[in-house]
Amino acid sequence: MMWWKLAVFAAAVFLTETEASTCTCYESGNYTGRSAPISNPYNPDGFSPCYAAPCSYVAYSGDENHIWTRLTFHWGTTTNSGGLIKIFDGTDITGTPIILLNEGENVLSGSTKSQIKSTSSRVTITYSQTGTDSNVFYGVMKAIPPQ
Ligand SMILES: *[C@@H]1O[C@H](CO)[C@@H](O)[C@H](O)[C@H]1NC(C)=O
Repeated sequence: MMWWKLAVFAAAVFLTETEASTCTCYESGNYTGRSAPISNPYNPDGFSPCYAAPCSYVAYSGDENHIWTRLTFHWGTTTNSGGLIKIFDGTDITGTPIILLNEGENVLSGSTKSQIKSTSSRVTITYSQTGTDSNVFYGVMKAIPPQ
């Protein structure tokens, strides 16, 4: 091969590898539906958990008459990275969150924390951590008519 062909080939391999190791927030856009997932950032190449810059998304119940509640949450692997979930009522993250979950704090169905409610059809769910080791977690929040 000519030297320049090698250079182009090398650049292509480099770009492919860079792309493959991107760490993606579980919900990269906003979400509309009745069951909002909360999960760890992952590497799309093999779905391994990874560390990313803070993740945040807005969950909309799709209907002004459905609010968010029935949170359940489970930490799989924790690494003492200061993982923190915050859920805010509405699309504003400047006020007080309706719930904070520190790394390692699970929420069982039916527990007090599981019964927190939003007042509106939209919540903002954020995840941040202070360290760089990856945590594994999974949770879900449900949209229901106010009761
Ligand atoms: C998600 O919604 C928020 C609040 O409405 C908005 O500021 C943000 O740009 C939206 N993000 C995306 C990826 O659409």
